Amino acid sequence: MPVVTAAYGTVTTSRPRVLVTRRLPASAVDLLDGRVELDVHAGESALTPEEMRVRVRDKDALIVLLSDRVDRDILDSAPALKIVANVAVGFDNIDVAHAASRGVVVTNTPDVLTDAVADLTWALILAVTRRIGEGERIVRAGAWRGWSFEFMLGSSLAGKQLGIVGPGRIGRAVGARAAAFGMSVAYASRRTGDWQGAEPMSLDRLLATSDVLSLHVPLRSETRHLIDQRALARMKRTAYLVNTTRGAVVDEAALVWALGERLIAGAALDVFEREPEVHPGLLELENVVLTPHLGSATRETRLAMAELAARNVIAVLGGQPPLTPVVPR
Ligand code: GLV
Repeated sequence: MPVVTAAYGTVTTSRPRVLVTRRLPASAVDLLDGRVELDVHAGESALTPEEMRVRVRDKDALIVLLSDRVDRDILDSAPALKIVANVAVGFDNIDVAHAASRGVVVTNTPDVLTDAVADLTWALILAVTRRIGEGERIVRAGAWRGWSFEFMLGSSLAGKQLGIVGPGRIGRAVGARAAAFGMSVAYASRRTGDWQGAEPMSLDRLLATSDVLSLHVPLRSETRHLIDQRALARMKRTAYLVNTTRGAVVDEAALVWALGERLIAGAALDVFEREPEVHPGLLELENVVLTPHLGSATRETRLAMAELAARNVIAVLGGQPPLTPVVPR
């Protein structure tokens, strides 16, 4: 923030500058309005890395979406940058370690999206086990020949085990909904920690015993392709895999192989390794439900996420601690 030193001390001559990489809801913009100078990218497509580098150069804060990559180059091109506020809970799009080394705070939007993502996860669990997508395609194609006793049988949930990989906020919220469907909950975690009513177990055992396996670990180097050929081969042939975290936690090519070999019964994916691309092998399979990264996509949740990002920016630019900082490891 440019300042001049006057006889009376330091006087601020202009407001801090904030780059927002995509239009945000009005309520979030209202929070920032009057306090900062906003540079909002209003285009339909994302800023290219080069465009972002140029636009961020003179900024004090940067508000980004999970589809924007904030790497070393971007951070190095913004000497005055104090905060990168991600409008997402995941932050694998940001080089958090490099930001920390430059004294730049990174924030995310936990809590406000937990229920929305947990609900979507259950929508996927129900869709894949009850063959909703497949059934809808048949109806729309005019190929339905009427009710019949053995037509499109799915799999019941009651009495089965839901396996949660990564019992953080979202994993636990997914687990908390399992009782409504009569499922027991087990989980695998790298950290110790109590989860009343859910059974801790090794990842190998979770893979081998779960009827539905739901992934909730963040994407990090150690979780990239956590679900690979070996992991998929350990799963029950009757089991379903559900992914609402980050695509690269699953080796998509290995998943196509496992589905083709009928090593698992089906998969439901909201996230993909190279979004918006989807492995062509997945597109051909009927026992796969595919949604376009809709985890937090409710109006209420997206408003809350944008407002939280704006509040983080206001706090940090005002010299206050961020509300929801990402802690560098
Ligand atoms: C969505 O994927 C998020 O990280 O918020």
